[in-house]
Amino acid sequence: MRKKIVAGNWKMNLSKEEAIQLYKEIDAKRKTISLKSTLIVFPPFIYLDCLKSFNLDIEIGVQNFYPEEKGAFTGEVSVSQIKNMGATYTLIGHSERRMYFHENHEFLKLKVEAALKHGLHIVFCCGEPLEIREENTQNKYVKKQLVESLFHLSEENFKKITVAYEPIWAIGTGKTASSSQAEEMHAAIRGFISDKYSKNVAENCSILYGGSCNPTNAAELFACENVDGGLIGGASLKSEDFLKIANSF
Ligand code: PGA
Repeated sequence: MRKKIVAGNWKMNLSKEEAIQLYKEIDAKRKTISLKSTLIVFPPFIYLDCLKSFNLDIEIGVQNFYPEEKGAFTGEVSVSQIKNMGATYTLIGHSERRMYFHENHEFLKLKVEAALKHGLHIVFCCGEPLEIREENTQNKYVKKQLVESLFHLSEENFKKITVAYEPIWAIGTGKTASSSQAEEMHAAIRGFISDKYSKNVAENCSILYGGSCNPTNAAELFACENVDGGLIGGASLKSEDFLKIANSF
């Protein structure tokens, strides 16, 4: 059975005290319900060490890293440094990094390689901007993102990837993809993986939805056959909302 995952992308939010409080609240509240999903949080990098020191049963990941081992890359952190701090997951390919930091297919491929080399689990984000959706060429656009940065991987390595479909027009806008739009794209992504690798690999790959997912719409989205959870931005900053979403299967 595919793994169900609900992940919180905290982006560049929260003071250290707020981050600690949120992390502890998530842990306390999850103990009062029986969750079917794995929880991951992606805090700002600087809180990693501190959150990890509480030793709670919530996976911690990073939002970013630089794909070189070490050296003169002022301001950057390497995969071995973040592994050393206790991160087990990383986001790669988030649209905000593609857009604001100009991370292109080739660079994302390097990040994928570096993360795999050090045994970090990858949540690989893909998704189209509004103009592409309006042209109705979103499947081709998303396929290219997967082909260019992931489909060079061996089957064995591809099995370590979780995909997150995040239509850019739905991120932080309050406009969620409808469950049929999400299901259609998730099924298409599973088809691309099946064509490239095998039906079995595709069937076992978790594909998350992201983009204004909240406690009100999560159950309908998660009920879709090919939606295996969510990558949650805004609604992951409140423990109650995050847990309601995680409990929506
Ligand atoms: P949102 O962000 O839930 O605030 O739309 C999702 C994301 O960017 O991962």
